[in-house]
Amino acid sequence: MNIIKCKDIDDYAKTAAQIVTDRINSKPDIVLGLPTGSTPVPLYKELSSLYNQGKVDFSRVTTYNLDEYIGLDRSSEQSYYNFMHTNLFKHINVKAENINIPNNDPNGLEMECLEYETAIKESGGIDLQVLGIGHNGHIGFNEPGTPFDSTTHIIELSEETIAANARFFDTPAMVPKKAISMGIRTIMLSKEILLLAYGKDKAEILKRALTGDITTDVPASVLKLHPNLTIVVDEEASSLL
Ligand code: F6R
Repeated sequence: MNIIKCKDIDDYAKTAAQIVTDRINSKPDIVLGLPTGSTPVPLYKELSSLYNQGKVDFSRVTTYNLDEYIGLDRSSEQSYYNFMHTNLFKHINVKAENINIPNNDPNGLEMECLEYETAIKESGGIDLQVLGIGHNGHIGFNEPGTPFDSTTHIIELSEETIAANARFFDTPAMVPKKAISMGIRTIMLSKEILLLAYGKDKAEILKRALTGDITTDVPASVLKLHPNLTIVVDEEASSLL
């Protein structure tokens, strides 16, 4: 486990983006696993800027997003499909056919879980999985109690997660209660993991995940078992480490 402590958010964004860019430059047909939320926004801005400067080329990159809400249309402003296009995909040259985001069509959810797993395997597996961490230690939408051997599945979001996500919606009642997410096993099978966190509200859970017991009560604690884990954090998030 390699922890990189950055002095501020700008340093955090540049450090994370440099790691992703280095991996793409050494393997142009890399398979990336990507998160949504506040955590990767500075990274996505920096990657878009590096792309504009000609320092990275996404034309052969394949992406798999970690998760998507159920109960929102893909075209909805709050869907992760929309989030990814707004914050990253429309700014870079990734090919539309190489972008994978779990399909939340309510009619085919069970099948989508199986097909998402198969697609990841057929792409050769995820080379670099980028992750954020929830305040309850979730990774993807794998809430506390999710088995470590879980694959892509449908999840009931915890009250804590619904409350945390309410900031993106007009009213708390509009926050979806379910999601489709890669499982913990899916994440752990990635060849490399880059865990990102910034801000003081992530300090406590990072401490629990990285220095406490490995337990399904704190899903991110499983990451300590991964042989190739890098953590990029700002000073505030790393203040208790
Ligand atoms: C989102 C995801 C979640 C977030 C986590 C942190 O795709 O996988 O695990 O990474 O909820 O969210 P933020 O970054 O908004 O604090």
